[in-house]
Amino acid sequence: MVLIKDISKYEGKEVEISAWVSNFRSSGKIAFWQLRDGSGFIQAILSSTDLSEEKWQEVNKVTQESSVKIIGKVTKHPKKEEYEIQVIDFEFYQIAEEYPISNKEHGVEFLQDNRHLWLRSKKQWAIQRVRNTLILAVYEFMNQNDFIKIDSPIITPNAGENTTDLFEVNYFDDKAYLSQTGQLYSEAAIFAHNRVFDFGPTFRAEKSKTRRHLTEFWMMDAEMAFVDLNENLEVQENLIRFMVSKVLKENKQELEILERNIKILENISKPFYKMTYDEAVAELKKLGSDIKEGEDFGADDEKMLTEKYDNPIFITHYPAEIKAFYMEKNIEDNTKAECADLLAPEGYGEIIGGSQRESDYNKLKKAIEDNNLPLKDFKWYLDLRKYGSVPHGGFGFGLERIVTWVCGINHIRESIPFARTIYRIRP
Ligand code: 4AD
Ligand code: MG
Repeated sequence: MVLIKDISKYEGKEVEISAWVSNFRSSGKIAFWQLRDGSGFIQAILSSTDLSEEKWQEVNKVTQESSVKIIGKVTKHPKKEEYEIQVIDFEFYQIAEEYPISNKEHGVEFLQDNRHLWLRSKKQWAIQRVRNTLILAVYEFMNQNDFIKIDSPIITPNAGENTTDLFEVNYFDDKAYLSQTGQLYSEAAIFAHNRVFDFGPTFRAEKSKTRRHLTEFWMMDAEMAFVDLNENLEVQENLIRFMVSKVLKENKQELEILERNIKILENISKPFYKMTYDEAVAELKKLGSDIKEGEDFGADDEKMLTEKYDNPIFITHYPAEIKAFYMEKNIEDNTKAECADLLAPEGYGEIIGGSQRESDYNKLKKAIEDNNLPLKDFKWYLDLRKYGSVPHGGFGFGLERIVTWVCGINHIRESIPFARTIYRIRP
Protein backbone atom coordinates (compact mmCIF):
# COMPACT_ATOMS: atom_id res chain seq x y z
CA MET A 1 0.00 0.00 0.00
CA VAL A 2 1.23 3.48 -0.88
CA LEU A 3 0.58 6.66 1.11
CA ILE A 4 -0.67 9.66 -0.81
CA LYS A 5 2.17 11.83 0.51
CA ASP A 6 4.65 9.58 -1.33
CA ILE A 7 2.72 9.46 -4.59
CA SER A 8 5.19 11.55 -6.63
CA LYS A 9 7.68 8.67 -6.41
CA TYR A 10 5.27 6.49 -8.35
CA GLU A 11 4.61 8.61 -11.43
CA GLY A 12 3.63 6.36 -14.34
CA LYS A 13 3.32 3.33 -12.05
CA GLU A 14 0.42 1.32 -10.74
CA VAL A 15 -0.29 1.71 -7.01
CA GLU A 16 -2.76 0.58 -4.42
CA ILE A 17 -4.02 3.13 -1.92
CA SER A 18 -6.59 3.00 0.87
CA ALA A 19 -8.50 6.20 1.60
CA TRP A 20 -11.76 8.01 2.25
CA VAL A 21 -13.80 9.82 -0.38
CA SER A 22 -14.21 13.36 0.92
CA ASN A 23 -16.03 14.62 -2.15
CA PHE A 24 -17.08 13.36 -5.57
CA ARG A 25 -18.70 14.43 -8.80
CA SER A 26 -19.45 12.71 -12.04
CA SER A 27 -20.29 13.75 -15.56
CA GLY A 28 -21.67 10.95 -17.65
CA LYS A 29 -18.85 8.59 -18.41
CA ILE A 30 -16.27 9.96 -16.02
CA ALA A 31 -16.22 10.45 -12.25
CA PHE A 32 -13.86 12.35 -9.95
CA TRP A 33 -13.30 11.32 -6.34
CA GLN A 34 -11.38 13.48 -3.89
CA LEU A 35 -9.42 11.07 -1.74
CA ARG A 36 -7.88 11.56 1.67
CA ASP A 37 -5.75 8.99 3.50
CA GLY A 38 -4.47 11.05 6.43
CA SER A 39 -1.11 11.65 4.78
CA GLY A 40 -2.42 13.80 1.95
CA PHE A 41 -5.04 14.48 -0.70
CA ILE A 42 -5.39 13.33 -4.28
CA GLN A 43 -7.99 13.19 -7.02
CA ALA A 44 -8.95 9.83 -8.48
CA ILE A 45 -10.37 9.68 -11.98
CA LEU A 46 -12.76 6.85 -12.78
CA SER A 47 -13.78 6.34 -16.37
CA SER A 48 -16.29 3.96 -17.88
CA THR A 49 -13.78 2.98 -20.54
CA ASP A 50 -11.12 1.89 -18.01
CA LEU A 51 -13.43 0.00 -15.66
CA SER A 52 -15.42 -3.16 -16.20
CA GLU A 53 -19.14 -2.67 -16.81
CA GLU A 54 -19.87 -4.14 -13.38
CA LYS A 55 -17.39 -1.81 -11.59
CA TRP A 56 -18.67 1.23 -13.41
CA GLN A 57 -22.16 0.50 -12.01
CA GLU A 58 -20.64 0.58 -8.51
CA VAL A 59 -19.08 4.02 -8.99
CA ASN A 60 -22.48 5.61 -8.49
CA LYS A 61 -22.87 4.01 -5.08
CA VAL A 62 -20.18 6.23 -3.60
CA THR A 63 -21.11 8.55 -0.75
CA GLN A 64 -19.18 11.19 1.15
CA GLU A 65 -16.75 9.48 3.60
CA SER A 66 -17.01 6.04 2.01
CA SER A 67 -13.80 4.10 2.58
CA VAL A 68 -12.14 2.59 -0.47
CA LYS A 69 -9.21 0.59 -1.73
CA ILE A 70 -8.06 1.86 -5.09
CA ILE A 71 -5.74 0.43 -7.70
CA GLY A 72 -4.69 2.89 -10.34
CA LYS A 73 -1.98 4.54 -12.35
CA VAL A 74 -0.30 7.68 -11.08
CA THR A 75 -0.19 10.56 -13.55
CA LYS A 76 1.13 14.09 -13.20
CA HIS A 77 -0.94 17.15 -13.95
CA PRO A 78 0.42 18.65 -17.19
CA LYS A 79 0.96 22.11 -15.63
CA LYS A 80 0.85 21.90 -11.85
CA GLU A 81 2.93 19.96 -9.29
CA GLU A 82 -0.10 17.77 -8.72
CA TYR A 83 -0.72 14.10 -9.18
CA GLU A 84 -3.84 12.13 -10.01
CA ILE A 85 -4.81 8.49 -10.04
CA GLN A 86 -6.39 6.92 -13.09
CA VAL A 87 -8.41 4.16 -11.49
CA ILE A 88 -8.08 0.61 -12.86
CA ASP A 89 -9.98 -1.15 -10.11
CA PHE A 90 -11.49 -0.32 -6.70
CA GLU A 91 -13.34 -1.87 -3.82
CA PHE A 92 -15.36 -0.30 -1.00
CA TYR A 93 -14.40 -1.09 2.56
CA GLN A 94 -17.68 0.53 3.47
CA ILE A 95 -20.22 2.70 1.73
CA ALA A 96 -20.78 5.41 4.34
CA GLU A 97 -24.21 6.40 5.63
CA GLU A 98 -25.28 9.96 4.98
CA TYR A 99 -22.50 12.05 6.54
CA PRO A 100 -23.68 14.81 8.90
CA ILE A 101 -20.95 17.28 7.95
CA SER A 102 -21.53 18.27 4.36
CA ASN A 103 -19.20 20.47 2.37
CA LYS A 104 -21.40 23.46 3.21
CA GLU A 105 -20.99 25.86 6.15
CA HIS A 106 -22.08 24.61 9.58
CA GLY A 107 -22.58 26.35 12.90
CA VAL A 108 -19.83 25.91 15.46
CA GLU A 109 -22.09 24.26 18.06
CA PHE A 110 -23.04 21.62 15.53
CA LEU A 111 -19.42 21.08 14.58
CA GLN A 112 -18.42 20.74 18.23
CA ASP A 113 -21.20 18.21 18.83
CA ASN A 114 -19.68 16.27 15.94
CA ARG A 115 -16.06 16.80 16.93
CA HIS A 116 -15.38 13.08 16.43
CA LEU A 117 -16.19 13.60 12.75
CA TRP A 118 -15.13 17.23 12.42
CA LEU A 119 -11.51 16.16 13.03
CA ARG A 120 -11.52 14.81 9.46
CA SER A 121 -12.10 18.24 7.88
CA LYS A 122 -9.14 19.65 6.02
CA LYS A 123 -8.62 22.61 8.31
CA GLN A 124 -8.84 20.45 11.43
CA TRP A 125 -6.43 17.98 9.85
CA ALA A 126 -3.95 20.81 9.25
CA ILE A 127 -4.22 22.09 12.84
CA GLN A 128 -3.52 18.70 14.39
CA ARG A 129 -0.53 18.20 12.10
CA VAL A 130 0.92 21.55 13.19
CA ARG A 131 0.28 20.57 16.81
CA ASN A 132 2.18 17.34 16.26
CA THR A 133 5.16 19.19 14.79
CA LEU A 134 5.19 21.58 17.76
CA ILE A 135 5.17 18.69 20.24
CA LEU A 136 8.03 16.89 18.52
CA ALA A 137 9.98 20.16 18.30
CA VAL A 138 9.72 20.60 22.08
CA TYR A 139 11.23 17.19 22.78
CA GLU A 140 13.98 17.80 20.23
CA PHE A 141 14.89 21.23 21.56
CA MET A 142 14.83 20.23 25.20
CA ASN A 143 16.91 17.16 24.53
CA GLN A 144 19.48 19.21 22.60
CA ASN A 145 19.65 21.70 25.47
CA ASP A 146 20.38 19.20 28.25
CA PHE A 147 16.90 18.98 29.75
CA ILE A 148 15.54 15.60 30.70
CA LYS A 149 11.85 14.84 30.90
CA ILE A 150 10.60 14.22 34.43
CA ASP A 151 6.90 13.50 34.59
CA SER A 152 5.05 15.23 37.38
CA PRO A 153 1.96 13.78 39.07
CA ILE A 154 -1.52 14.76 38.01
CA ILE A 155 -3.21 14.10 41.34
CA THR A 156 -1.84 16.47 43.99
CA PRO A 157 -2.79 17.45 47.52
CA ASN A 158 -1.89 21.14 47.04
CA ALA A 159 -2.52 24.03 44.68
CA GLY A 160 0.27 24.68 42.21
CA GLU A 161 -0.78 28.14 41.09
CA ASN A 162 -3.79 29.58 42.89
CA THR A 163 -6.68 28.18 44.85
CA THR A 164 -9.51 29.63 42.79
CA ASP A 165 -9.62 27.28 39.83
CA LEU A 166 -8.85 23.86 41.28
CA PHE A 167 -10.67 20.71 40.27
CA GLU A 168 -11.32 18.62 43.35
CA VAL A 169 -10.99 14.85 43.36
CA ASN A 170 -12.22 12.46 46.03
CA TYR A 171 -9.11 10.62 47.00
CA PHE A 172 -10.29 7.81 49.26
CA ASP A 173 -10.61 9.48 52.67
CA ASP A 174 -8.69 12.52 51.56
CA LYS A 175 -9.24 15.46 49.27
CA ALA A 176 -6.98 16.01 46.29
CA TYR A 177 -6.81 18.17 43.16
CA LEU A 178 -6.01 17.78 39.50
CA SER A 179 -2.67 19.39 38.78
CA GLN A 180 -2.64 23.00 37.54
CA THR A 181 1.05 22.81 36.69
CA GLY A 182 3.90 20.36 37.18
CA GLN A 183 6.24 23.16 38.20
CA LEU A 184 6.62 22.47 41.90
CA TYR A 185 7.58 18.87 41.25
CA SER A 186 9.93 19.90 38.45
CA GLU A 187 11.63 22.17 40.97
CA ALA A 188 12.34 19.15 43.14
CA ALA A 189 13.85 17.32 40.17
CA ILE A 190 16.41 20.02 39.25
CA PHE A 191 18.35 19.17 42.41
CA ALA A 192 18.92 15.75 40.88
CA HIS A 193 19.13 16.66 37.18
CA ASN A 194 19.84 20.41 36.91
CA ARG A 195 17.54 20.96 33.91
CA VAL A 196 14.21 19.18 33.58
CA PHE A 197 10.84 19.52 31.92
CA ASP A 198 7.46 17.93 32.22
CA PHE A 199 4.83 17.90 29.51
CA GLY A 200 1.35 16.66 30.18
CA PRO A 201 -2.28 17.48 30.83
CA THR A 202 -3.08 20.20 33.38
CA PHE A 203 -6.41 21.35 34.70
CA ARG A 204 -8.04 24.65 35.61
CA ALA A 205 -11.62 25.00 36.66
CA GLU A 206 -11.60 28.32 34.79
CA LYS A 207 -14.93 30.04 34.89
CA SER A 208 -13.69 32.30 32.13
CA LYS A 209 -15.51 31.96 28.89
CA THR A 210 -12.92 33.28 26.48
CA ARG A 211 -11.37 32.24 23.20
CA ARG A 212 -8.23 31.13 25.02
CA HIS A 213 -9.30 29.16 28.07
CA LEU A 214 -9.68 25.43 28.36
CA THR A 215 -10.30 23.45 31.53
CA GLU A 216 -7.93 20.70 30.38
CA PHE A 217 -4.83 21.66 28.43
CA TRP A 218 -1.29 20.46 27.85
CA MET A 219 1.43 22.31 29.66
CA MET A 220 5.17 22.04 29.33
CA ASP A 221 7.00 23.22 32.46
CA ALA A 222 10.76 23.71 32.20
CA GLU A 223 12.93 24.28 35.26
CA MET A 224 16.63 25.16 35.52
CA ALA A 225 19.10 25.38 38.39
CA PHE A 226 21.59 28.25 38.62
CA VAL A 227 19.95 30.58 36.08
CA ASP A 228 18.86 34.21 36.37
CA LEU A 229 15.86 35.77 34.66
CA ASN A 230 17.78 36.75 31.51
CA GLU A 231 19.10 33.22 31.01
CA ASN A 232 15.61 31.89 31.67
CA LEU A 233 14.14 34.17 28.97
CA GLU A 234 16.86 33.24 26.52
CA VAL A 235 15.87 29.58 26.73
CA GLN A 236 12.21 30.51 26.20
CA GLU A 237 13.01 32.63 23.18
CA ASN A 238 15.19 29.95 21.60
CA LEU A 239 12.57 27.28 22.26
CA ILE A 240 9.69 29.22 20.69
CA ARG A 241 11.90 30.17 17.75
CA PHE A 242 12.83 26.52 17.25
CA MET A 243 9.20 25.37 17.44
CA VAL A 244 7.86 27.92 14.98
CA SER A 245 10.78 27.38 12.58
CA LYS A 246 10.01 23.66 12.55
CA VAL A 247 6.42 24.32 11.57
CA LEU A 248 7.52 26.74 8.83
CA LYS A 249 9.80 24.05 7.47
CA GLU A 250 7.60 20.99 7.84
CA ASN A 251 4.02 22.19 7.53
CA LYS A 252 3.95 24.32 4.38
CA GLN A 253 0.86 22.56 3.05
CA GLU A 254 -0.92 22.82 6.40
CA LEU A 255 -0.18 26.55 6.74
CA GLU A 256 -1.51 27.05 3.23
CA ILE A 257 -4.73 25.21 4.07
CA LEU A 258 -5.04 27.43 7.16
CA GLU A 259 -4.35 30.51 5.02
CA ARG A 260 -1.81 31.55 7.62
CA ASN A 261 0.16 34.75 7.02
CA ILE A 262 3.63 33.20 6.92
CA LYS A 263 5.38 36.60 6.84
CA ILE A 264 4.59 37.19 10.50
CA LEU A 265 5.73 33.73 11.58
CA GLU A 266 8.98 34.28 9.71
CA ASN A 267 9.80 37.22 12.02
CA ILE A 268 10.50 34.57 14.64
CA SER A 269 14.16 34.62 13.56
CA LYS A 270 14.43 38.21 14.89
CA PRO A 271 14.87 39.07 18.59
CA PHE A 272 11.64 39.15 20.61
CA TYR A 273 10.38 42.45 22.03
CA LYS A 274 10.85 43.14 25.74
CA MET A 275 9.19 45.64 28.05
CA THR A 276 8.42 45.95 31.74
CA TYR A 277 4.95 45.71 33.21
CA ASP A 278 5.09 49.45 33.96
CA GLU A 279 5.95 50.25 30.35
CA ALA A 280 3.17 47.98 29.14
CA VAL A 281 0.64 49.71 31.42
CA ALA A 282 1.73 53.11 30.08
CA GLU A 283 1.37 51.87 26.52
CA LEU A 284 -2.06 50.39 27.27
CA LYS A 285 -3.26 53.67 28.71
CA LYS A 286 -2.14 55.42 25.53
CA LEU A 287 -4.10 52.89 23.53
CA GLY A 288 -7.21 53.72 25.53
CA SER A 289 -7.36 50.90 28.09
CA ASP A 290 -8.79 51.73 31.51
CA ILE A 291 -6.20 49.55 33.26
CA LYS A 292 -4.85 50.86 36.57
CA GLU A 293 -1.34 50.44 37.92
CA GLY A 294 -1.07 47.21 39.87
CA GLU A 295 -3.86 45.41 38.03
CA ASP A 296 -3.38 42.26 36.03
CA PHE A 297 -3.99 42.37 32.30
CA GLY A 298 -7.31 41.11 31.13
CA ALA A 299 -7.67 39.25 27.88
CA ASP A 300 -8.78 42.53 26.27
CA ASP A 301 -5.65 44.34 27.45
CA GLU A 302 -3.39 41.65 26.09
CA LYS A 303 -5.24 41.74 22.80
CA MET A 304 -4.96 45.51 22.55
CA LEU A 305 -1.29 45.47 23.50
CA THR A 306 -0.16 42.71 21.15
CA GLU A 307 -2.29 43.53 18.11
CA LYS A 308 0.21 45.92 16.61
CA TYR A 309 3.25 43.69 17.17
CA ASP A 310 4.67 41.28 14.63
CA ASN A 311 6.74 39.11 16.98
CA PRO A 312 6.38 37.79 20.56
CA ILE A 313 6.82 40.22 23.47
CA PHE A 314 8.19 39.53 26.94
CA ILE A 315 6.50 41.56 29.66
CA THR A 316 8.74 41.50 32.73
CA HIS A 317 8.37 42.46 36.39
CA TYR A 318 4.67 42.29 37.11
CA PRO A 319 3.53 43.40 40.57
CA ALA A 320 4.35 40.56 42.97
CA GLU A 321 0.88 40.85 44.43
CA ILE A 322 -0.89 39.60 41.29
CA LYS A 323 1.54 36.73 40.69
CA ALA A 324 1.95 33.29 42.28
CA PHE A 325 3.36 32.83 45.81
CA TYR A 326 6.57 31.07 44.72
CA MET A 327 7.97 33.93 42.65
CA GLU A 328 11.14 35.67 43.73
CA LYS A 329 10.94 39.44 44.20
CA ASN A 330 13.04 41.87 42.21
CA ILE A 331 16.08 42.97 44.25
CA GLU A 332 15.73 46.69 43.53
CA ASP A 333 11.96 46.90 43.80
CA ASN A 334 10.50 44.19 45.99
CA THR A 335 6.94 45.07 45.02
CA LYS A 336 7.74 43.52 41.64
CA ALA A 337 8.23 39.83 40.85
CA GLU A 338 11.31 38.62 39.01
CA CYS A 339 9.14 37.20 36.28
CA ALA A 340 7.98 37.47 32.70
CA ASP A 341 5.07 36.44 30.57
CA LEU A 342 5.58 35.89 26.88
CA LEU A 343 2.76 37.29 24.77
CA ALA A 344 2.16 36.19 21.20
CA PRO A 345 1.62 39.00 18.68
CA GLU A 346 -1.42 39.70 16.50
CA GLY A 347 -3.71 39.98 19.50
CA TYR A 348 -3.14 36.43 20.76
CA GLY A 349 -1.61 37.30 24.13
CA GLU A 350 -0.04 35.12 26.83
CA ILE A 351 1.54 31.86 25.75
CA ILE A 352 4.20 31.48 28.48
CA GLY A 353 4.28 32.28 32.18
CA GLY A 354 7.66 32.09 33.88
CA SER A 355 9.73 33.41 36.76
CA GLN A 356 12.63 33.06 39.12
CA ARG A 357 11.60 31.06 42.17
CA GLU A 358 12.03 32.17 45.76
CA SER A 359 14.99 30.12 46.99
CA ASP A 360 15.14 31.44 50.56
CA TYR A 361 13.43 29.23 53.14
CA ASN A 362 12.07 31.97 55.35
CA LYS A 363 10.82 34.22 52.58
CA LEU A 364 9.06 31.31 50.87
CA LYS A 365 7.50 30.15 54.14
CA LYS A 366 6.16 33.64 54.72
CA ALA A 367 4.77 33.80 51.16
CA ILE A 368 2.95 30.50 51.70
CA GLU A 369 1.47 31.82 54.96
CA ASP A 370 0.57 35.20 53.43
CA ASN A 371 -1.31 33.38 50.69
CA ASN A 372 -3.21 31.31 53.25
CA LEU A 373 -1.89 28.06 51.83
CA PRO A 374 -1.69 25.03 54.16
CA LEU A 375 1.94 24.78 55.32
CA LYS A 376 1.71 21.03 55.87
CA ASP A 377 1.17 20.39 52.15
CA PHE A 378 4.16 22.54 51.25
CA LYS A 379 6.61 21.06 53.72
CA TRP A 380 8.30 19.04 50.98
CA TYR A 381 8.50 22.13 48.76
CA LEU A 382 10.09 24.11 51.58
CA ASP A 383 12.58 21.28 52.11
CA LEU A 384 14.06 22.13 48.70
CA ARG A 385 15.16 25.44 50.28
CA LYS A 386 16.90 23.62 53.13
CA TYR A 387 19.19 21.17 51.37
CA GLY A 388 21.44 22.90 48.87
CA SER A 389 19.08 25.67 47.80
CA VAL A 390 20.12 27.45 44.59
CA PRO A 391 18.91 30.32 42.46
CA HIS A 392 16.61 28.78 39.91
CA GLY A 393 13.81 29.55 37.54
CA GLY A 394 11.65 28.22 34.79
CA PHE A 395 8.55 28.66 32.75
CA GLY A 396 5.47 26.92 31.48
CA PHE A 397 3.58 27.16 28.23
CA GLY A 398 0.13 26.03 27.27
CA LEU A 399 0.50 24.01 24.07
CA GLU A 400 -2.96 24.97 22.82
CA ARG A 401 -2.21 28.69 23.11
CA ILE A 402 0.83 28.19 20.88
CA VAL A 403 -1.05 26.02 18.39
CA THR A 404 -3.84 28.62 18.20
CA TRP A 405 -1.39 31.41 17.45
CA VAL A 406 0.84 29.50 15.01
CA CYS A 407 -2.21 28.28 13.08
CA GLY A 408 -3.75 31.75 13.19
CA ILE A 409 -7.11 30.38 14.30
CA ASN A 410 -9.80 32.20 16.16
CA HIS A 411 -10.57 29.98 19.07
CA ILE A 412 -8.53 27.63 21.28
CA ARG A 413 -11.17 24.87 21.03
CA GLU A 414 -9.85 23.85 17.60
CA SER A 415 -6.26 23.49 18.81
CA ILE A 416 -6.85 20.30 20.82
CA PRO A 417 -8.50 17.12 19.51
CA PHE A 418 -11.31 17.10 22.10
CA ALA A 419 -11.67 20.44 23.86
CA ARG A 420 -12.87 20.68 27.46
CA THR A 421 -14.41 24.00 28.45
CA ILE A 422 -16.88 25.04 31.15
CA TYR A 423 -19.67 24.30 28.72
CA ARG A 424 -18.45 21.13 27.12
CA ILE A 425 -17.14 17.70 28.01
CA ARG A 426 -18.70 15.88 25.05
CA PRO A 427 -17.85 14.12 22.82
O1 4AD B 1 0.76 31.30 33.59
P1 4AD B 1 0.48 29.96 34.21
O2 4AD B 1 -0.65 29.85 35.12
O3 4AD B 1 1.84 29.53 34.86
C1 4AD B 1 2.06 28.36 35.53
O4 4AD B 1 1.25 27.47 35.70
C2 4AD B 1 3.49 28.18 35.95
N1 4AD B 1 3.51 27.22 37.07
C3 4AD B 1 4.32 27.73 34.80
C4 4AD B 1 5.77 27.56 35.17
O5 4AD B 1 6.42 28.53 35.52
N2 4AD B 1 6.26 26.35 35.11
O6 4AD B 1 0.25 28.92 33.03
C5 4AD B 1 1.27 28.70 32.08
C6 4AD B 1 0.69 28.75 30.69
C7 4AD B 1 0.06 30.08 30.32
O7 4AD B 1 1.03 31.00 29.89
C8 4AD B 1 -0.86 29.67 29.19
O8 4AD B 1 -0.15 29.50 27.99
C9 4AD B 1 -1.33 28.31 29.64
O9 4AD B 1 -0.39 27.82 30.55
N3 4AD B 1 -2.64 28.35 30.29
C10 4AD B 1 -3.80 27.95 29.71
N4 4AD B 1 -4.05 27.48 28.48
C11 4AD B 1 -5.31 27.16 28.18
N5 4AD B 1 -6.35 27.28 29.03
C12 4AD B 1 -6.15 27.76 30.28
N6 4AD B 1 -7.18 27.84 31.14
C13 4AD B 1 -4.82 28.12 30.67
N7 4AD B 1 -4.27 28.61 31.81
C14 4AD B 1 -2.95 28.73 31.55
MG1 MG C 1 0.04 33.21 33.50
